[in-house]
Formats: sequence, structure tokens, C-alpha cells
Amino acid sequence: MADVDRKTFMRDVYADYWLQARDKKYGFMDYDRRLCELVESESKPEARLLEVAIGTGYPIAGFLARAGHKVHGIDISPALIERCRELNPGIEASVGDAENLAFDDGTFDAVYCFHSTWYFPDLPRVIDEMLRVTREGGAVLFDIQNRSHPAIAADYERRLRQIRPGVGPRLVLQARNVAKVVLRRGNPNWHAVNYEVPTDPQAVTDHLRQSPAVQNFSVLARNESDQSLARIDDHCTFPHYPRLIFVARR
Ligand SMILES: C[S@@+](CC[C@H](N)C(=O)[O-])C[C@H]1O[C@@H](n2cnc3c(N)ncnc32)[C@H](O)[C@@H]1O
Repeated sequence: MADVDRKTFMRDVYADYWLQARDKKYGFMDYDRRLCELVESESKPEARLLEVAIGTGYPIAGFLARAGHKVHGIDISPALIERCRELNPGIEASVGDAENLAFDDGTFDAVYCFHSTWYFPDLPRVIDEMLRVTREGGAVLFDIQNRSHPAIAADYERRLRQIRPGVGPRLVLQARNVAKVVLRRGNPNWHAVNYEVPTDPQAVTDHLRQSPAVQNFSVLARNESDQSLARIDDHCTFPHYPRLIFVARR
């Protein structure tokens, strides 16, 4: 599927699912709390923050705004941005593409992006954009679905096998998904679209190491039993963790 179609899918189809799912299916998870704490630990009080792919702003941006930070957010979906504005009048939310952030260089104290990097067709470009709009000394934080984790890799392979039938059947499935969402009848077959792509952590570390905008960075892993985050220095252990969090200092 061409990248432009992947973005269209996220904007027009996935957004309808996420309008309901974030609140009703996931809620404010322990992992979200840990991510909020991490953003706060990396930024000063009343910091100017940007959430890339903010969704409805619930729960992370809302929490950080209530904690006194000046929160901005962008998302590719107009429907999610509209809901974000309704829920969080204090957040400056606008429609935008993570690959082309409409902000000047060095605008923010910290820029973060959670639960979303696997939807971007060009993650290195998004990382560069997040670094560009962060001030010197500020922080960029994001998590990845770890493609080197065996279960994540197997899941991805399974999804690819389901997608492989060819372009024609895939387009039919995608059209059916759109119809189901629009008519609110039946469950869409999300696996028909290759919209969710886990990330090779080594590629991210290489990218950050080579970036002239990065002073240093660390990698944290999510503990699957209590959702706590711990720094990992031995990158050979990457395959043990389904979810990794990168914190880069500009
Ligand atoms: C799983 S949701 C996560 C939303 C939010 N970060 C949260 O934690 O609730 C993924 C979000 O990525 C957004 N998204 C996908 N591709 C995007 C892009 N290219 N630019 C901006 N937002 C994008 C979707 O619209 C959706 O809101």
C-alpha cells in the first residue's frame, strides 16, 4: 500500500475507531502515567510541550496541561483534533502531519510522541522534525513497537501474510472497512491494511547517533508486569522488550 494511502487510512478510518477506543478500551493506563512522569522529569515546570499525534489529548496531553505545562498537539485527523479541543480547551491543537511539523526551529522545551511511531511511513523524518522544533537542551521522547522482540516480529509477519493476497483484494477489503465504519455496521478488518509497522531499534539508535542535533540519548524498556520504565545500557538485550522508549537530548 502506498504511503499516502496509509496516511489516508489513519485520517479517515482509524480515527473513527480511536475516537471511541482510547477512552473506552484503554483508558489512563499505568504505562501512560509512567510516560507522563518521564516527560515531566525531562522538562522544567510550565514547559512548552508538543505532543506529536495527540489523538484526543486523553490522557497524556490532558494530564500534562493540568500539571501546568503549555501543551500543543498535532494530529493528522481533523475529527480527533476537534474532540481534543472539546475535551481540553487549554491545549493548542491543530491538524498536521508528523513528517512536516508546522513550527519554527527550537519552539518547544520538549516534544513527545507515544503509541504512534508505528503508524508513520517515514519515522526517521518524524524524528528529525521533532528534533528540529525542540530548543537546544530540550528533550525528544518517543516509544516504538520493538521489531526485534520475537512476539512483535511474529505478529507483524502474520499481518503481512494476511495482506499478501494482492492489491485487488486488499483494496476491496479496505473499501469494505470504510463502508463498515461509515455505516457503523460490523467490525472492520484492520489487518487488511498494513498501517502498523514495528520499528527496528538498532535503526533508531543508528539514526540518533548520526544526527548532529542529538547531544546524547538513552533507551528505556517497559517492564511488562508492572509497566515501569527502566534504562537499558546493554543494547544486546533489546529483543527482550516489546516496547522501548527513546529519550534524546537536543
Ligand atoms: C494510537 S493513536 C495515539 C494517540 C495519542 N498519542 C494517545 O496516546 O492517545 C495514533 C495517532 O497517530 C495519529 N497519526 C497517524 N499518522 C499520523 C501522521 N502522519 N501525522 C500525525 N498524526 C498521525 C492518528 O491519527 C492517531 O491519533
